[in-house]
Parts: sequence; C-alpha cells; structure tokens
Amino acid sequence: MNLLTRFIRRYAAPHTRSYLGGLFFLLATTALTVAIPTFVQYAVDAMTLHRDAAGAASAVTFAWAIIAAGIGVMVVRTLSRVLFFNPGRVIEYHLKSDLFRHLTELPRAYYDRMRPGEIVSRGTNDAQAVRGFIGFGSLQVFNVALTLLLTIGKMVVTDWRLTLWVLVPLLLAVMVLRRAIREMFTLTRRTQEELGHLSSRVLETYGGATVLQSMNAVPMATDRFEERNSALLGVGQRLAFVIAWLLPVVDVVGNACLVLLLFVGGQMVIDKTLTPGELAAFAVLIRIVAGGLNSLGWLVNALQRGWISLGRVYEVIDAPVALDAAGLGTGAMPPSVSADDKGHAVSVRNLTFEHPGRLDGKTPGAASQTLVPAEAREPALSDVSFELAPGGTLGIFGETGAGKTTLLDLLSRVHEPPPGTVFIDGVDVRTVDLKAFRKATAYVPQDAHLFSQTLRENVALADSKETRDDRRVEEAVMAAALGDDLGALPEGLETRVGERGVMLSGGQRQRAALARAFYRDFEVLLLDDVLSAVDHATEKRLIDAIYARRKGATTLIVSHRVSALRHADLILVMERGRVIARGTHEALLRDHAGPYWRAWRLQQEREAEGLPADGLPTTAPSEVPHG
Ligand SMILES: Nc1ncnc2c1ncn2[C@@H]1O[C@H](COP(=O)(O)OP(=O)(O)OP(=O)(O)O)[C@@H](O)[C@H]1O
Ligand SMILES: [Mg+2]
Repeated sequence: MNLLTRFIRRYAAPHTRSYLGGLFFLLATTALTVAIPTFVQYAVDAMTLHRDAAGAASAVTFAWAIIAAGIGVMVVRTLSRVLFFNPGRVIEYHLKSDLFRHLTELPRAYYDRMRPGEIVSRGTNDAQAVRGFIGFGSLQVFNVALTLLLTIGKMVVTDWRLTLWVLVPLLLAVMVLRRAIREMFTLTRRTQEELGHLSSRVLETYGGATVLQSMNAVPMATDRFEERNSALLGVGQRLAFVIAWLLPVVDVVGNACLVLLLFVGGQMVIDKTLTPGELAAFAVLIRIVAGGLNSLGWLVNALQRGWISLGRVYEVIDAPVALDAAGLGTGAMPPSVSADDKGHAVSVRNLTFEHPGRLDGKTPGAASQTLVPAEAREPALSDVSFELAPGGTLGIFGETGAGKTTLLDLLSRVHEPPPGTVFIDGVDVRTVDLKAFRKATAYVPQDAHLFSQTLRENVALADSKETRDDRRVEEAVMAAALGDDLGALPEGLETRVGERGVMLSGGQRQRAALARAFYRDFEVLLLDDVLSAVDHATEKRLIDAIYARRKGATTLIVSHRVSALRHADLILVMERGRVIARGTHEALLRDHAGPYWRAWRLQQEREAEGLPADGLPTTAPSEVPHG
C-alpha cells in the first residue's frame, strides 16, 4: 500500500470529523474572501453607473457588506485552523509512540547498523515535519486549491476571454517554478539527512566526552561537528535562496497579470463590454490569486519536508522485527525436565554465523564504510557444535574476539541463530515463542547496562513498584556480592545510579547486572564475562553464589579466567570463531601446548606470587599486609 494511504488510514482517519469541520470553515473562508471582490464590483458599479442618491446608498450598503465579510473571514479562518492543526499534534504524538514502541522491539542487528543520533532525529525533527505536513500542509493545500478554484471560477463567469488573457503569465511562471520545486525537494531531503548526521555527532561527542577531553581530542571532535554543522548551514542557505527567489517571481507574475488586465480590461471598459465594477473585481481577484501563489513556496516546501520525513519515519516503523523471519515460530517453551531440575538440554550443531552488519557492509545513513575484502573476512563463528545435558554447565574460554559474546548472543536469541543450528530439548529455538524463551532465560551481557533509576529498580527491572518483591531484591544483591558496596552509596539501594549507571564502578555495575539475573526465575543462565572486574576473593564468592542459585538451571559461563570455569561439565576453547579444543578442566590441562593450560599456568603463578590473576589484588585492599 502506498505510504500516504497507510499514513492517512492509520493516523488521520480517526480525525475525519475534525478535518471535515475544518474543510467546511475553510470553504466558508474562501467563499467570503471571494465575495469581497463581488461586493467591490457592485459598490463601484452602483457609484459609477447610477450617479444618484440611491446609487450612493447601495454603495454604502455594499461597503458594510465588505466589512461584515472581513470580520466573518477572521472568525471562520480561525476555526478552520484550529480544526486542521489540532489533529496534527495528536498525530505527531501517536507517531512518536508507535515509533518508540517499534524501536524497543527491533533486533540488535538493527541497532548495530543504525546510529542513535539518526534514530533520535527521526523521532524528533522528522516527526515534527510530519505534523507540519498534516496540519499546515493539508490546510494550505485545500486553501490554495479552493481559492484558485473559486477566484478563477468567478473570473471565468465574469468574462472568460479576459480570464485567459490575464492568466497567461501565470502559466509561464508555473513552468519556470517546476524546476525550482525539484531543486527544493533535493535540498529538503539533504537537510533532513544532515539533521540526522548532526544529532549523531552530538550524541557521540557527548557519550565520549571524557575520552575526548583526556586524549586532548576535543579539537578533532569540534572539527567533525563543524563539518556537519556547516554542511547543514550550506543546504539550509541554498534552500532559503531558492524559496526567497520564488517570492519576487510570484510578485512579478501578479503585477504582469495586473498590467495585462489594465490593457485588455481597460479597452473592454472603453468598448463597454465590461463594467468598471467588473474591472475592479478582477483586480482584487488577481491580488487574491497572487497571494495564494505567494504562500506556494512555503507550502511546497512544507509538503516536501513532510513527505521526506514521513518516508524516514516509516523506514524505522517498517524495519522488520526479525531480519530473517522465515520459520520463526510461536511454539511453547519445552517443559523443564522435572520439577526440581529446571534445566534444559542445549545443543548447537554446525553453527556458523556472520554479523549482518558485515554481510552487506551497508550502514543506513552512513556516507561510506570501508569494507574488509570479502575473501579476507572470517565469520564470527564457524562450525560450532556442542551438546549440554539439562542442568549442565558449559564454560567458554577464548582470547578476545574469539566469538564468545557472539555465541551467547545467538544462544540468548539477541541475534536469531540460523535455522537448524540451536536446539533446546531437541526443538529448534527459532520455533519457540521469543517472549516465552526470554522468560525462561537470564542473560547477563558483557557490558552491563543500567538505567537512570534507583539500584533497586534496576535489579527488579521488569517489575513495577507494586509487583516488585523487595526481599528478593535484597537477597539477590547480597548474593551478587554487592552488599558491602551498598554502604558506600549515598542512599544504598535507593541510590539513583545515573545515566547508564555512571554513579557505579565497572565492577559494581557488573554485579548489579548479575543481581538482576539472580532476582529472576530462570531455567537457562548465560553469563558473559561477568567476573572480569572483581577481585579474586569476590570471584570465588560469586562462583559459589552462581552454583548455589542456579538450582539446576543449565548454565553457560564465558570467561577468560580459568578459575571461573574449572567446575564446568564441558569447556570449549575458542579461537577466531572456531572451537579448537574441548573437555573438562582436567582433560584440557593435559594438553600442555594449548592456550587453556598456558592461561592456567599464568594465573597459578600470579596467584602463587600473591599477585592477582590479571592485575587485581586477591584480597580487598584494606587487608593487604604492609611491607
Ligand atoms: N555487531 C557486530 N558487527 C560486526 N562484527 C561484529 C559485531 N560484533 C562482533 N563482531 C566481530 O565478531 C568477532 C567476535 O566478536 P565477539 O564479541 O563475539 O568476541 P568475544 O570472544 O566476545 O571477545 P571479548 O573477549 O573481547 O569479549 C570479532 O571479530 C568482532 O569484530
Ligand atoms: Mg565478548
């Protein structure tokens, strides 16, 4: 279905009554506006044709009629504007709500490719332009159309030959203006795109302000911002120039029409084929037509801007919730094996995965992107397979960039795995309803994201104040070894942690995210490197807590610390997307050439020296003996 039809059906149709009312008052406005020249005509004719007292009296009557019509226009024009503009605000509101709701459902792959500034810009600048389109734009379209129809109609009825003469300049002008309108369209599109770029720059700079300042890179950021800002200024100025140029053209056209009227119409009055009143009426009508054309520049621009923005907003609304939706199902989550054993069997068979961003190399909104040559590219995961029994624990070990996070993203369906690769109790996960699946899994990602609300609200993330179980929150926080940190926070659990949790340390954020998982009921637990920012003693506590709290849930732990994985039933050693070794801790240690053994040795040595496994004290700083 055409974009405009879809938009009107979904958003404008509920306001049909308001629009019909607006249209009625608009019609009244135009009718009264066109009536004024008719009254002028009668008044002039009354004075010039009947030069007597009765003529003068009726001229006065028509003068009063002109005043009354003028006041009437004021009233009905206001009403028509209210009725047209008000739905525009409501429509903008609904459009923004829909956009936001859809954004929250979009898959990670979409966010990976779309820059946040671009999304913000579409929800603000573009949504606003759509309001201009549906409010001011639609009102003016009807206004200009009705005005032209009625004024030109009135001219034709008075004298069609004279009408043709005086409208010749108008037709010539329309041909010239078509070019300008095309130019305006291109410039308007660029303006909306540049606004998106600019928002991206602002967000990026804001997010990385500390880095920019500490690296003395502020001038670079300023230059990059200036580059976009001046690009926006450039298109804006060119657009203003084109529109400004339209106005005098329309003025000249209006005056040319008047000149023609004086030549042709004046001769007709002399020949007595036209009354002086009709000549006067024509002059006023031409002014009205020229006035309508004057607003055409702004109108066309508002329509173009709205149309382009509508496309940009719908680009997001229409973005598919799943990139590859074929075969995605709504099946129930397979039941747990037994009441006290909550786990599920997880099997992965020949899983190969390439990040979608890399597949086509396209970043919507980005001007260009350097591509890795196709032959040099390696998928993030190649031919990964394993079987995990219900309630089992899988450890995933590997150097940075090995594909560990990618694997967990696929197992948690942040990215949908390809069909026939990931199974839960023998069922392809893609056939399981996503919401049901997510309810049964708890995934603690590598970078814990906290929201700008209290720590308590962050832990019980999905719950409202009414549904939250506060005892459970406290228990989860204790289990996540966050209890000692609470004392240092100004208001304990009630501390507002700031945007993205800036009030907390990296390790505190990690443990808050772990507490979030502990708070929930889960049957599958996925932990991505959640112990990376804690000291050795806390790590031990946390591992104990994880084993204690999982109560039979199948658990997958990613870590580059061997100590965190040693109790796993199966450990995968990954390198560049491939599983290069697998086995239990003991079995893997037998291969003295493998990366697992090397990491183990290194970590053992550091511990023996009293040094932390990777630079952190093994005990809390206050307990470190002096000397
Ligand atoms: N969104 C993405 N788009 C394109 N490529 C990606 C994306 N995310 C990760 N990659 C690539 O996939 C590969 C595996 O990344 P992944 O994040 O899974 O590694 P990792 O093992 O978790 O590393 P680390 O230990 O540093 O967390 C890397 O080469 C990375 O560049
Ligand atoms: Mg990772």
